[in-house]
Amino acid sequence: MVSLGWVRLRGSLLLQCVGALAAGVVAFVLAAVVCTEARGHVHVVIVGVVLLIVVFGIVRLTGILYALPIGVVVILAFDWYILPPLRALDAATVLLLVLFLVMSVIIGAVTTEAGRRSVEAEKARGDMADTQASLRRLALLVAAGEPPAVVFSAVTEEVLRHFGGDTARMIRFERDGTATLVASEGTTGPHVRIGEPWQGYPPTGLTETILRTGQAARVDDYAVIPGGEPYLREGLRAAVAMPVHVDGRVWGMIALGSGHGPLPAGAEDRLTDFTNLVAMAVANAQSRAEVMTSRARLVTASDDARRRIERNLHDGAQQRLVSLALGLRSAATGFTGPDDIRAEIEQIATELVEVIDELREISRGIHPAILSESGLRPALRALARRSVVEVELEARIEGRLPEAVEVAAYYVVSEMLANAAKHAQATIVQVRAEVSDGQLLLVVRDDGVGGADPALGSGLVGLKDRLDALGGSFAVDSPRGAGTTATCELPIGS
Ligand SMILES: Nc1ncnc2c1ncn2[C@@H]1O[C@H](COP(=O)(O)OP(=O)(O)OP(=O)(O)O)[C@@H](O)[C@H]1O
Ligand SMILES: [Mg+2]
Repeated sequence: MVSLGWVRLRGSLLLQCVGALAAGVVAFVLAAVVCTEARGHVHVVIVGVVLLIVVFGIVRLTGILYALPIGVVVILAFDWYILPPLRALDAATVLLLVLFLVMSVIIGAVTTEAGRRSVEAEKARGDMADTQASLRRLALLVAAGEPPAVVFSAVTEEVLRHFGGDTARMIRFERDGTATLVASEGTTGPHVRIGEPWQGYPPTGLTETILRTGQAARVDDYAVIPGGEPYLREGLRAAVAMPVHVDGRVWGMIALGSGHGPLPAGAEDRLTDFTNLVAMAVANAQSRAEVMTSRARLVTASDDARRRIERNLHDGAQQRLVSLALGLRSAATGFTGPDDIRAEIEQIATELVEVIDELREISRGIHPAILSESGLRPALRALARRSVVEVELEARIEGRLPEAVEVAAYYVVSEMLANAAKHAQATIVQVRAEVSDGQLLLVVRDDGVGGADPALGSGLVGLKDRLDALGGSFAVDSPRGAGTTATCELPIGS
């Protein structure tokens, strides 16, 4: 391909050289005639100036390849046919003329070629800078963790802008053998809808070829491939595509289409930088999704474990202790021996009841039973009642929320109340919970000393992890001397 282009280029330069030689000969003849005619009638300086103006005009019109030989032969004609001593057109003069002509054409050709190369180099530099700018913009999106859909449509937009085809598309291959158009940019088509899985692509089209080979693919004319009609109908004639590989699998492809004719050779390779970025964005999104899922699994598993412990304590140890306490009480009542021993048995029974109460308290803290039974609002009221620091509660919640959301909100308030009592020297804590726009907004504010630092304990960090796992957010604002505010938002949609 390259050598063919080179031959074409050389051929056209050679033709231009021949043209420049011919123009030189014609210019010499004309200048010689003009000089001969003008000799003795028109002042030499005027003839010189007129010839200079004509040559200058030719330079402006034709460029150096023509202007140089024409300029040289005009000077020769001026010298030979108007300035004494005059020359006859003998063999030596013709030889000299030919030498001057050929030499100036060669110099003109070399200069033209150098100019062309520098223009090409300049254009290539501009292209590269443009690609880098596109890639930088996309890399920023990927680094900012933007959702894949946003990255995909930005990529197709940049690809189209950069390559200047008529359409740029991104297609994802599904595991069931279908493909989904995930982004499409441009004036042409598409004949399938974005986001809808489709199948039955042409056997020698881009999708099928990339699925089969995992390599770049190209169609130079949809009119000659079986099944190419839908593409022709939407106005496409040709296209190229590069695969996007993620984790060793062909995840999908980026395709560039043209409604006019085959896309330039090498377009596939130049798409590689873009496919690499998409692969990175997809891999990032996948690992983020995996981390979220496993975090959510961990939170659920630990909640289940708490619930099991609470059940076991309630049904097992607690019940046995209650029977023991009852047994002791009846033993004390029926005891006929010394009074001090009976008093001791009663004392043990009393302490046992206290232990049972304590155990009940602990198990209630492990998993808030009131939450499962009655929901978030009553559970928050119970927390407020039990709090050491006075609580002002405003809960605008109707009915029940998803269990994970209720549990998370309960733990936020419970931990913030405990912190207010332990660290804040607060006199009041305001708790506001409200559901709006598909999310629960929870704000807990104390009027204490501030300066909360999650790095110093595990409570605040644990809350952040729990809320992150549910796709929510948790932020603590705690300037020294100005109280502490925890704000969290929890989506309740899923
Ligand atoms: N409301 C608050 N007012 C002032 N300081 C606070 C407040 N809440 C937390 N802090 C400070 O921030 C630190 C971290 O709080 P965090 O709840 O994470 O841990 P903790 O309460 O010390 O221990 P635990 O892991 O039992 O919760 C605390 O040790 C405390 O110094
Ligand atoms: Mg704490």
